[in-house]
Amino acid sequence: MRLTLQQSATALAQGSVLAIPTETVYGLAARIDRPRAVDQIYTLKKRPRANPLIVHAANFEQICPFIRADFPYFEVLKSLGEAFWPGPLTLILPICQKSLSRVICAGLLTAGFRVPSHPLAQKLLLATGPLAAPSANLSGSPSATRAEHVESDFGPELAILDGGPCDRGIESTILGWQSGQLILLRAGAITAGAVQRALKNWGVEVRACRPSQPTPGSYLRHYAPRAELTFDLAALKTPIVVLGFEDRQYPNCPCLINLGSSRRPAEVSRRLYAALRELDDRGVRRAFVDLDFPDEGLWASLKERLLRAGDQGAIRASCAS
Ligand code: TXA
Ligand code: MG
Repeated sequence: MRLTLQQSATALAQGSVLAIPTETVYGLAARIDRPRAVDQIYTLKKRPRANPLIVHAANFEQICPFIRADFPYFEVLKSLGEAFWPGPLTLILPICQKSLSRVICAGLLTAGFRVPSHPLAQKLLLATGPLAAPSANLSGSPSATRAEHVESDFGPELAILDGGPCDRGIESTILGWQSGQLILLRAGAITAGAVQRALKNWGVEVRACRPSQPTPGSYLRHYAPRAELTFDLAALKTPIVVLGFEDRQYPNCPCLINLGSSRRPAEVSRRLYAALRELDDRGVRRAFVDLDFPDEGLWASLKERLLRAGDQGAIRASCAS
């Protein structure tokens, strides 16, 4: 069921859950002051209640009241916000006691915050105030980058504010502080290099998260289609469906699920989840995934998603999901 912007704001005020567009992926949103609706998000997604939700806000001012006044890196945080918000960056921050419900934070003393840039999300958040929203997909499944993906996971009854296809296509980059160190908790639409450049005047370095310090969302298999994915080139010796690039040739390939051009990572990012979902829509049981691309920048985030979609990536670079 599609709603207008005005209907969406009203439905959220009345305590409904609805899917909202962001520039990364669709979110399954509820107002932070509607506890039953927040709880319903977990039920709908089949998400473990130990995995906290991130809070979306229209601007930095909407976030400030939640942040602990004694947070020592406030100025660094502000400069990251100025560099990347609105946009696909989530920051995990220490929060004032009782400023957010236990259900949103899963009982932690921190919460994730993000200011999305999608114009409809911006307008909605200005009307409603902060919204709690995880990605709008069933837990463990590929994220949703179109309203139809949301519909396919949750059925036609779920209310959706349709903002068209998501422009970035993969989730936000997540940063957090652990023992005074800025940690990359999830590689995402903003590259680690871009974060590092934004911090050049602060003498702060971004470290990759250690697998020994996993965050609540670090499950083994994630972003996963039902199809079995293989990354082994030997699989191409017999006929197999390929998740690969339109500008490459694959021997024995009866069907190419097209990720786009191997020279355009932003395009691949936009197509990624639709391509993973297409495998299931076509009833594919097993597919070879072409991972022959660089380990840097946006490509690194894409590789991490694909490895985890195939059960191989949980222990690698990024920990949140
Ligand atoms: O681009 C995105 O970030 C999308 C759109 C909808 O904004 N949202 C999204 O939410 O990807 P979700 O819930 O699918 O992923 C957020 C991740 C989860 O793995 C969760 O465990 C982690 O952020 N997270 C949330 N709060 C946290 C906290 N306080 N400490 C550590 N990790 C946290
Ligand atoms: Mg998710």
